[in-house]
Amino acid sequence: MLATKESHRILDVGCGSGAAARYAAKIVGPTGSISAIDFNAGMITYARTLDPDGRIDWRQGDVTDMPFDDGSFDIIAGNQLLQFLPEKEKGLSEMKRVLTDSGRLALTVYCAPHRNPAHAAVANALEKHGIDSKGVVHPFSYGDPVVLGDLLQEAGFKDVAVVRKQMDSYFPSAENFIECLAAGGPSSRHALEQLDVDGLKTLKAEVTEALAEFVDPDKGLRVITAANMALARA
Ligand SMILES: C[S@@+](CC[C@H](N)C(=O)[O-])C[C@H]1O[C@@H](n2cnc3c(N)ncnc32)[C@H](O)[C@@H]1O
Repeated sequence: MLATKESHRILDVGCGSGAAARYAAKIVGPTGSISAIDFNAGMITYARTLDPDGRIDWRQGDVTDMPFDDGSFDIIAGNQLLQFLPEKEKGLSEMKRVLTDSGRLALTVYCAPHRNPAHAAVANALEKHGIDSKGVVHPFSYGDPVVLGDLLQEAGFKDVAVVRKQMDSYFPSAENFIECLAAGGPSSRHALEQLDVDGLKTLKAEVTEALAEFVDPDKGLRVITAANMALARA
């Protein structure tokens, strides 16, 4: 449905460090273009350093009020943005405005925690230790495919379809997975930092036990990441 052509104008919304935009830049040809927007200035600065040829039009800005003319894009892609938007309808209305009449939208949003068991196990263990796990589960807080589909339909998008995608990654151990979370995004890091050395050790043991069924003796801990991808036409 998103078959990209060389001449397409593509926008990556909530681009973060711009992985999707850089991938798209490999697909479109010289007659196409890629723009990417994120309201985090640090992310845009970092993304620019990963695009030394300046192939991508990086913008610091808010997706609920975008600095683009009506009908500027053939495709909009947004990975893990929508759940963080307090004004989702406004964001979608802006996306519809800057798409052409035949433009297409693809938004990916993590499924609910129970479909992402490794993250859920860490959140449960944090709660057991009296630590607020909201930051860890927030990315998984908009995981209902029907709610997602209805939101797009109500925003005026057509031919809305929601498909579930699952990705499996392997970590050497649950301990290593927790260490990666602690070194990653600010929300998980902040929650895990609240534990002292013994608390962290106990939490690692609890998560290891909770995730025992996901351990492959050869590959390590299987971390399932499930997300809903909403596809639609403007
Ligand atoms: C989980 S990150 C995803 C980044 C990137 N799409 C990826 O897959 O790596 C969510 C991004 O959305 C951005 N964001 C959140 N609300 C935004 C808004 N209203 N306007 C623009 N960007 C926003 C954040 O700054 C953050 O970089």
